[in-house]
Amino acid sequence: MKIGFVGGGNMAEAILSSILTKELSRPEEIIVSDVAETRRDYLQKRFHIQVTANNLEAAKGREIVILAVKPQVLNEVMAGLKNQLKDDQLVISIIAGKSINTLNSGLAHNCIVRSMPNTPAQIGEGMTVWTATSSVTPGQRRYAASILGVMGLEIAVDDEKYLDMATAVSGSGPAYVFLFVESMIAAAVQLGFTPEIAQKLVMQTLLGSSHFAAKIR
Ligand SMILES: NC(=O)c1ccc[n+]([C@@H]2O[C@H](COP(=O)([O-])OP(=O)(O)OC[C@H]3O[C@@H](n4cnc5c(N)ncnc54)[C@H](OP(=O)(O)O)[C@@H]3O)[C@@H](O)[C@H]2O)c1
Repeated sequence: MKIGFVGGGNMAEAILSSILTKELSRPEEIIVSDVAETRRDYLQKRFHIQVTANNLEAAKGREIVILAVKPQVLNEVMAGLKNQLKDDQLVISIIAGKSINTLNSGLAHNCIVRSMPNTPAQIGEGMTVWTATSSVTPGQRRYAASILGVMGLEIAVDDEKYLDMATAVSGSGPAYVFLFVESMIAAAVQLGFTPEIAQKLVMQTLLGSSHFAAKIR
C-alpha cells in the first residue's frame, strides 16, 4: 500500500512504526514529508523509508495520504496540496478539531476520512473514532480501519458530530487521567511513601482497575 505522510512528528512515527511492524505496507512504499531536516534524517535512518521536504511529493501518486501536521499549520499545508490530489486518493486526517468541510474545501478533494485518535495511540493503546465521506469506497474504508487500527481500537461512526463528542470523551480523557495520576502520586508521597513506591502503587492500581473494569462491564 503506497502511503504518504504529511508531517513526520510523534503521531506519524507511531502510525508508521506500527504499519511496518504489522506489514500493512513496506518501507519502500512509504514517504514522509516534514519541514525539519533532523526529523527527516531520523525517520529515514530508523525506518528506511523515503523522506522529503516537499509535501506535494509525499502526497502525489499515493493511495493514502495521511495528514499528521499540527492544526495551526493545516491551512498552509492544504494550500500546497489544493487541486493536486486525484479523486481516488484517500486522505486520512488525524488532526484534532478540523472538520471534513475544512479539509474538503482546503484541499478541493472529496475522498476523506477524518479521525480523532488520543495520546495513548502513540503506544498502540489508543481509541480512535473516525468517519468517512460518501466518496470513500468500501475498500478504502477497510484500508482506513486497518491503518487507524494500528493505534489501538478504532470505531467508525456515520455522523461527524460523534467525532466532536469523542474529542470530549476519548480525545481529552487521557489528560484527566494524567492529572488524576499526578494527584494520587502526590497524595501517596504526602502519606510518606517514596516517589518510586508511590508511582508503582498508583500505576498498578490504575492499570489493574482499568483491566478489571473492562472485564466486568
Ligand atoms: N499527539 C497526540 O497524542 C495526538 C492525539 C490525537 C490527535 N493528534 C493530532 O495529530 C497531529 C500531529 O500531532 P503530533 O503530536 O504528531 O505533532 P508533532 O509531533 O508536532 O508533528 C507534526 C510534525 O509536522 C511538522 N511540520 C510543521 N509544519 C509543517 C509543514 N508545513 N509541512 C510538513 N510538516 C510540517 C512538524 O515539524 P516542527 O516540529 O519542526 O514544526 C512536526 O515534525 C495534530 O494535528 C494533532 O491534533 C495528536
